[in-house]
Amino acid sequence: MNKEERQDLFKQVMGNYPTGVTIVTTKTQDGTPVGLTVNSFASVSLDPLLLLWSIDHGVSSIKAFTKGGKFAVHVLAENQAELCQTFARKNVDRFSKCSWNLSSNGLPILEGTLGVFECQTYKAVEAGDHTVLIGEVIDLKVDKAKNPLLYHRRVFGPIPKDFYHQ
Ligand SMILES: Cc1cc2nc3c(=O)[nH]c(=O)nc-3n(C[C@H](O)[C@H](O)[C@H](O)COP(=O)(O)O)c2cc1C
Repeated sequence: MNKEERQDLFKQVMGNYPTGVTIVTTKTQDGTPVGLTVNSFASVSLDPLLLLWSIDHGVSSIKAFTKGGKFAVHVLAENQAELCQTFARKNVDRFSKCSWNLSSNGLPILEGTLGVFECQTYKAVEAGDHTVLIGEVIDLKVDKAKNPLLYHRRVFGPIPKDFYHQ
């Protein structure tokens, strides 16, 4: 198998791996809010509280995320597919299309999500064409009444109705 075939298979298997979806936000040095849709999110450690996600080196806001500051990871609720697409679309004023406010940590926080982890960068690890950002959670909140948005094979949706009754 050549390199392109291996990359193609890699994408096929990864694309068939279902995940939730998050939006990660921060501020640039001049205070402008920036953010992007992310599904490379994972839990890392309970003591201390650590999580990770990875950012493509081609993302326009990469400097704001890799300067060693704070960022907020929002776990999206099942009714937030449109918000998710807005934060993945190029050349869109993303923050004019949603309700948000600044937290006491100075981070842009989106409304209506299932949960939010506000983090201080713990470590940034260069890994191929991405940087893995490990964050230490400094603040968190959850809305227990909400269900997650799922992502599988480029489709967004809620947990299937019969999922818990098989
Ligand atoms: C479901 C989904 C998951 C994504 N996950 C990631 C990710 O984990 N890391 C990443 O760098 N980009 C990810 N992206 C792509 C970014 O959202 C997209 O490249 C980014 O918004 C581009 O921002 P820019 O226009 O500011 O460069 C994902 C997109 C979608 C639709």
